[in-house]
Amino acid sequence: MSIPFVNLAEQQRRIRPDLERRISQVLDHGRYVNGPEVAELEARLASFTDCRHVISVSSGTDALLAVLMAKGIGRGDAVFLPSFTFTATAEVVLLCGATPVFVDVDASTFNLNPTCLGEAIANTAKDGRLRPAALIAVDLFGQPADYPAINDLADWHGLFCLADSAQSFGAKMKNQTVGTLAEATATSFYPAKPLGCYGDGGAIFTDDDELAATCRSIRTHGEGEDRYNIVRLGMNGRLDTLQAAVLLAKLEIFEDEIELRRSVARRYTDSLAELVTTPTQMSGADSSWAQYTIKLPHRDAIAERLQHRGIPTQIYYPSPMHLQPAYAEYGGGRGSLPVSERLSGEVLALPMHPYLDDAAIAMICEALRDAVAAA
Ligand SMILES: Cc1ncc(COP(=O)(O)O)c(C=O)c1O
Repeated sequence: MSIPFVNLAEQQRRIRPDLERRISQVLDHGRYVNGPEVAELEARLASFTDCRHVISVSSGTDALLAVLMAKGIGRGDAVFLPSFTFTATAEVVLLCGATPVFVDVDASTFNLNPTCLGEAIANTAKDGRLRPAALIAVDLFGQPADYPAINDLADWHGLFCLADSAQSFGAKMKNQTVGTLAEATATSFYPAKPLGCYGDGGAIFTDDDELAATCRSIRTHGEGEDRYNIVRLGMNGRLDTLQAAVLLAKLEIFEDEIELRRSVARRYTDSLAELVTTPTQMSGADSSWAQYTIKLPHRDAIAERLQHRGIPTQIYYPSPMHLQPAYAEYGGGRGSLPVSERLSGEVLALPMHPYLDDAAIAMICEALRDAVAAA
């Protein structure tokens, strides 16, 4: 028996008739761009999150970039972000002409450490070369960042706070849904994400009317009153109609899938807590469990042993951003962000999807126990 890391085939079996019906409707009406499914999806996502505005876009990366562009973030601006993240979080800062300031994370939640964030903002302000303008908090592996502390810091220093919730759609913090935890939120519908389409996709969430209108304009080449009235720099950032149709079918079972993921995570933790460091949940946080990431010594040798037993694992992320060649000039080099650096050598993501049954979980845990004993 081989265990998939994510299981989109099982999910597809569950919703295949609805998927086919929705895709056929698109083929029938032929409005492949800006079709009615796009508006329907945005309305459904707005009611799901209880957020005033949802702007669907072509990827999570474009969602982040469009928001930064809409806020006028650019040259001379410092944007604070965790170093332990996916490259897109850093990439968009440079794409809009601003300067990334990498910040260390909390060793137990993997998310932005508010104390380190406060220090980084103070140091940047004191240095005076850049204007502290914005921060991007990342909800790594599905758990919301510490928004109560982070929003307080953003308010105190007058910084714009953007949530990179690419991995956490469906999660909650103190019963408030991802999408409403920061001034603006970006998510990704990449296929492997908790809510994924069959290609690239993403969305922006905000309660700010003006920001929403600007993001809509940027999504379509910076258009104004009509498509040949260009009022600002924009992009081709629309979500296509077929992807919206796929997402509408998946949204029907999304809440159930999140519950199933939570149950898988509980079973992993019950079985592995004595063996390795299992994920820590902040009080009040309800992760969407995009990943189940453990920490352990001898990580690479253990991953290789698991692979031999037919159990796929992934390393998110083998290098923090401040040590990546593309971004190294903006960081303080090796040793500057010790937690991010240490985590890169310890983390291991186990198979995680809603359809992992007890037998598969038992098999994974037993193989891990053997691999740890042999390491
Ligand atoms: C933390 C984070 N930010 C941004 C992105 C970018 O999303 P997309 O791949 O949809 O552009 C991802 C995708 O993996 C991510 O994990």
